[in-house]
Amino acid sequence: MTQQDPSDGIEHLFADTVRDTMGSAVYGDWRSIHNADAVPLAFGFPYPESFPNEELAAATDSLLSSEPERALQYGGGDHADGLRDLVVDRARDRGIDCAAETVHVTNGATRAIDTVCRTFLEPGDEVVVEAPTFMGALGIFRNHGAAVTGVTVDEEGLDVDALADDLASRARCGAAQPKLVYTIPDFQNPTGVTMATDRRERLLDLAERYDFVVLEDDP
Ligand SMILES: Cc1ncc(COP(=O)(O)O)c(C=O)c1O
Repeated sequence: MTQQDPSDGIEHLFADTVRDTMGSAVYGDWRSIHNADAVPLAFGFPYPESFPNEELAAATDSLLSSEPERALQYGGGDHADGLRDLVVDRARDRGIDCAAETVHVTNGATRAIDTVCRTFLEPGDEVVVEAPTFMGALGIFRNHGAAVTGVTVDEEGLDVDALADDLASRARCGAAQPKLVYTIPDFQNPTGVTMATDRRERLLDLAERYDFVVLEDDP
């Protein structure tokens, strides 16, 4: 057994995926940008005035009073059960018809993207993303050993024609097709564009034809 220099600590035990990202700021160096005119293109920072601080404080207070034994317990309580129904109602308001048993609640989009990757990806599988895209998602795809390729974005969102050409040429030469296409169709990060309806429909047709999953990120 090789003796490690104690001053190395435990870094030599880190996984390759961690080692590869060491030394680079995971979410970019936006914190060091002091110019007031600079627009950080990493996170889609929510508008602070839109934070429902008072409503959240009141809801937390009410929940802890009404379900003191269960609110913080594993599995939640009555309200946790009701949350999926609430998600279904809100989705329906936006034209998405889904059932509560198809809703999986996560603590944020990052976790949801990771869960989708765990569900569908083997190392080496290909993920198509919009170019440019949200870099947090790129980090997750890389952590799952995915090969990431980009398709350009224009004023109407993902260039679905370019994607269709790419998929067709893969089919012609018998190359592997992507498992996932990751898209941010509304107010895309970082470009801010929204995907045209006909492109959305075309993307779904392509997903059926070439058998891939569309991972829609709608923050
Ligand atoms: C497109 C997109 N997806 C996901 C996230 C992260 O979401 P969450 O904080 O819910 O994990 C961001 C944050 O900026 C984002 O812009």
